[in-house]
Amino acid sequence: MEFENIVTENNEGILHIIINRPKKLNALNKDTIQELHEAFTDAREDEEVKVVILTGSGEKAFVAGADISEFADFSAEEGRELAAKGQANLFDFVANFAKPVIAAVNGFALGGGLELAMAAHFRVASDNAKMGLPETSLGLIPGYGGTQRLPQLVGKGRAMEMIMTAGMIDAKQALQYNLVNHVCEPEELIGFTEKIAQKIMRNSLVAMSAAIRAVNANYEDGINGFEVEISEFGSAFATEDFKEGTSAFLNKRKADFPGK
Ligand code: COA
Repeated sequence: MEFENIVTENNEGILHIIINRPKKLNALNKDTIQELHEAFTDAREDEEVKVVILTGSGEKAFVAGADISEFADFSAEEGRELAAKGQANLFDFVANFAKPVIAAVNGFALGGGLELAMAAHFRVASDNAKMGLPETSLGLIPGYGGTQRLPQLVGKGRAMEMIMTAGMIDAKQALQYNLVNHVCEPEELIGFTEKIAQKIMRNSLVAMSAAIRAVNANYEDGINGFEVEISEFGSAFATEDFKEGTSAFLNKRKADFPGK
């Protein structure tokens, strides 16, 4: 599928989704959010896609935030709608995506950019990456899940400080904060992230989808994650992947999971 603001590329089961507005530091305008939604929808249906790596084009930015020029004259109602639609169509969509999504943070990840990286299942950063939620410097607050996901990842106090100062942290500090799992040289970022994706692809995607649902249940109000785990664990026994995984282990061979 052809897009104007993003590029997609399937490399042997790893779908690269690259946000491609480098002149605007890959800022997320409405069209880009819509295209990302479409790309993820396609990826969900496409059996050739096993893992998604999300990154930004150019060397400077992952995503420098929501496109400020688009909402500068919004009313309160339009602001609410912007956040609600964005969360439903992209940020929650990515967080609950049934296949693993890794953000490869290749530069500035600010505002909506950091929120997008945080919606991914985990993050790898290049050592020139800079991350922050600068919304309070614009008289705003994060609207794409940042007030919820940042404390979940780094703890309440650090999240409060980052939001209140509107400052940026570098990749080293993001690693210390558990905001990213790994930091590498910019030129190694994609290769390193692909290696993790390849490791993931050896395992059962059916089981991974169940694990994503169970882990995410911990962060949903009114849902007992332990109960979700028990239910997903039980369901796994009824899958072809479970039969294949256990029989491969018992027969001392590599598993070839049939599940998609
Ligand atoms: N929305 C819209 N346009 C953006 C943008 C955003 N979030 N972030 C960057 N851009 C645009 C700039 O307006 C500029 O466009 P122009 O060349 O047409 O003037 C272009 O991207 C390059 O950015 P520039 O500011 O010139 O680069 P820089 O290296 O001097 O600074 C940043 C980089 C990231 C520090 C700076 O762009 C910035 O602060 N961006 C906004 C970050 C932000 O507040 N995001 C949260 C939004 S809710």
